[in-house]
Amino acid sequence: MIGYRELIDRASSARERAYVPYSKFAVGAALLCEDGTVFEGANIENAAYPATNCAERTAFFRAVMEGHREFKAIAVVGGPEGQAPHALCPPCGVCRQVMREFCGEGFEIVLFDGKDTKTYTLAQLLPCSFGPENL
Ligand code: THU
Repeated sequence: MIGYRELIDRASSARERAYVPYSKFAVGAALLCEDGTVFEGANIENAAYPATNCAERTAFFRAVMEGHREFKAIAVVGGPEGQAPHALCPPCGVCRQVMREFCGEGFEIVLFDGKDTKTYTLAQLLPCSFGPENL
């Protein structure tokens, strides 16, 4: 099982493949499955702006389509394209809700600002949430 340092490295490498002609803000994510498999994702923008897919959702949707539904953690790294990150890039609300669909409260979100790492649980980032068991 890879550690969070390596997961951040995978997110940083995914970030290089972001398609961000509009915001020029490149985000990379690396999603660690319970069995140790890692899926990378990057943000993919669109001329019709709302059709943009965030890095986190790219990673989740790739994993689900490959048959994975059990997840341990996701690393996220973001910042201006072509530059090293200089701030944390916390997941947007839509991505948090996608995490909630597949992950328990203990799922970990690992953020890296280029220097320091901060780790949060999904329960911390999405309290009092609505999930599959609410239906
Ligand atoms: N973005 C992500 O990919 N993940 C996040 O956690 C926050 C925002 C993307 C969406 C858009 O392409 C760009 O960053 C600026 O909002």
